[in-house]
Amino acid sequence: MKRFAIVLAAGQGTRMKSELYKVMHPILGKPMVEYVIDAARGASMDEVIAITGMGAEVVEDHLGDKCKFAFQSEQLGTAHATQQAEELLGDLEGTTVVLAGDTPLIESDTLNRLIETHEKSGAKATVLTAIAPDPTSYGRVIRDEDGSVLKIVEDKDASEKERKVKEINTGTYCFDNRTLFEKLQLVGNDNAQGEYYLPDVIEILKLEQEMVAAYTLEDFDEALGINTRLALSEAEQLMKKRINKKHMLNGVTFVDPEIAYVEPDVEIGPDTTIEPNVYLKGNTKIASHVFLGMGTEIIDSTVDEYAEIKQSIIDQSTVGPKVTIGPFAHLRPGSHLLEGSHVGNFVEIKNATLGKFSKAGHHAYIGDADVGEHVNIGCGVIFSNFDGVNKHHISVGDYSFIGSNSNLIAPVTLEAESYIAAGSTINLDVPSKALAIARARQVNKEGYAEKLPGLNHENKN
Ligand code: UD1
Ligand code: CA
Repeated sequence: MKRFAIVLAAGQGTRMKSELYKVMHPILGKPMVEYVIDAARGASMDEVIAITGMGAEVVEDHLGDKCKFAFQSEQLGTAHATQQAEELLGDLEGTTVVLAGDTPLIESDTLNRLIETHEKSGAKATVLTAIAPDPTSYGRVIRDEDGSVLKIVEDKDASEKERKVKEINTGTYCFDNRTLFEKLQLVGNDNAQGEYYLPDVIEILKLEQEMVAAYTLEDFDEALGINTRLALSEAEQLMKKRINKKHMLNGVTFVDPEIAYVEPDVEIGPDTTIEPNVYLKGNTKIASHVFLGMGTEIIDSTVDEYAEIKQSIIDQSTVGPKVTIGPFAHLRPGSHLLEGSHVGNFVEIKNATLGKFSKAGHHAYIGDADVGEHVNIGCGVIFSNFDGVNKHHISVGDYSFIGSNSNLIAPVTLEAESYIAAGSTINLDVPSKALAIARARQVNKEGYAEKLPGLNHENKN
């Protein structure tokens, strides 16, 4: 049996009170609709179709080739939205799962179990339901005395008695594909919101004596629908818990998992320790035995084994094994720190390689440079890479020593084992093993203080 998924993502999301389309609101850096699409893809579907409308271009650009798209030009309701997939799916045999683009916590395993239940029972439709601690704003599942599903009533259309029902429609359903598109044509919009409701298909089937079933989630959290910023923050908490739990079970230590933020695509090796307020973003890979101290932010970067990073920011960079960084270092895009190198407090690096076991312990700027192995970069060294118009390159050979407060003016090359005297301003290449001193000689003026008017040392006590 072929399997299809339709993800409804055409609404504006008025209740979010946002210029950003609802389904594009990120949860740990990833738009909520992408979680839903990924969950569908993870349930090995033959086809995944997103229905787009409001902000279609933005949504389609983001999802790219993860799925196909069908366009809903007017937002007339969830049944109308589903109907837009008819051209792509209408005459196919198979099972179709419909999901809402605003339920980001739904998991592939759940979809697989829903489909299995549906296909085993032979029902024409199976609704995924959950017991909500607070069912307000969800559609309620109305069952008859023998427990079979009769219909779904929207919050705004429900009677007082129906509102008390705690079993809700999660907005995820499984249908026989052909039956779905047949029955969608029978859905009307005579209701409180004047919309074509997808859940009405359930009642239509029931009235036609067709079999409809329900599959109830054990855990409500997966059903959380995001209509407001309040629910968005709840989803963020739940997703964070889910992600951190996965890493902890894989052997990662979190000092306080409540306040450590790891985006869904981040990889972390075992025996790595993560302190509070660490934020790992995007396509970041952390190896095993790494220490990430509090307040560290790492974006789209790779960190190798036994590296130690304290209170620092690392963006689009690579950190080799046993590298130590921080506190308060900033690695901007294109920084590559090789094995055993060290970057200390108030050091900024950009588009530069720091060779094996090289050190920049304090207050330095290293930009557009290749620094060799075992180089010592003193306190306050500046790589002056920018002439106001263009950026230029600096090379520093292995085992060089750059004295404190030196200024290297690019383009310039320091060959291996060069020795730069503290306070030098270097704008000429330095040959291998040479000492370069580029500063005015010191002059001592004897007795100078005594000649200064107003400075009378005899009156001092
Ligand atoms: C819907 C269900 C409700 C269920 C809840 C679960 C209906 C009528 N109600 O309510 O029973 O308990 O989800 O979260 O289906 N959309 C479109 N086009 C439209 C309208 C909506 O694509 O014309 C999309 C939205 O972008 C959203 C999804 O469908 O991603 C659900 O729509 P929403 O308005 O959030 O429905 P709810 O009121 O939450
Ligand atoms: Ca919703």
